[in-house]
Amino acid sequence: MNAPHSFADALQILACSARKNGNSDHAAQLFAQGYEAAGGKTHTRFMRDYTIRHCTACEACAIPGSTSCVQEKKDDSLELYSMLTQAPALFFSSPIYFYHLPSIFKTFIDRCQCFWFREFNRDPFMLSLPKRKAYICLVAARPVGEQLFTGSLLTLKYFLSPFNIHLAEPLLIYGKDGPDELAGDPETKVRLLEYGKAAYADTVPLYSTKK
Ligand SMILES: Cc1cc2nc3c(=O)[nH]c(=O)nc-3n(C[C@H](O)[C@H](O)[C@H](O)COP(=O)(O)O)c2cc1C
Repeated sequence: MNAPHSFADALQILACSARKNGNSDHAAQLFAQGYEAAGGKTHTRFMRDYTIRHCTACEACAIPGSTSCVQEKKDDSLELYSMLTQAPALFFSSPIYFYHLPSIFKTFIDRCQCFWFREFNRDPFMLSLPKRKAYICLVAARPVGEQLFTGSLLTLKYFLSPFNIHLAEPLLIYGKDGPDELAGDPETKVRLLEYGKAAYADTVPLYSTKK
């Protein structure tokens, strides 16, 4: 997992479901198809392929001048960290689990606390990161629910903020439960293809959580 890799030449996709070939995998595939049809290049990774240790709140990373997590040589986090610092743009797709992001994704998000501290401590590397956008697709089984995606969007906003990555208006998909339900819905497929094309043209507006 930690092989040297270039992240700068393509939009980086992270599909975050624990379930293989499910709705958020299909969402990632369709977004990539749209982005590439418009002329862009993408690279896709699956969160479930990475072994990530939990943040233990040791706070070694809180010490000014610290530039890494003490755990990063013990797992696959380094590749995903590099993706976040080097990607020109990103796309995340994820299912909703209990009104939030699945634990395999949240575990990685918690491990990015070291970057939160680096920005807090005014680390020049963090302050030098260019402003970038993250495109988001969240999928849930419930057909309705005003707050269904709220927690996940707040978490994504504050997880990505130290990297100077800002949320684009997300694509929020209700009522998809079985693994093929998204792929079997022509209207949703078109929405994803168009979202990918609009991302390449950079016409997706920024998202405001008003917080
Ligand atoms: C552990 C777990 C918790 C879930 N919690 C919710 C939930 O709170 N609300 C909801 O609408 N759907 C919930 N779902 C359903 C998934 O969001 C839904 O099946 C989604 O389409 C799965 O996407 P995937 O195929 O990419 O894994 C849950 C599913 C699992 C496995």
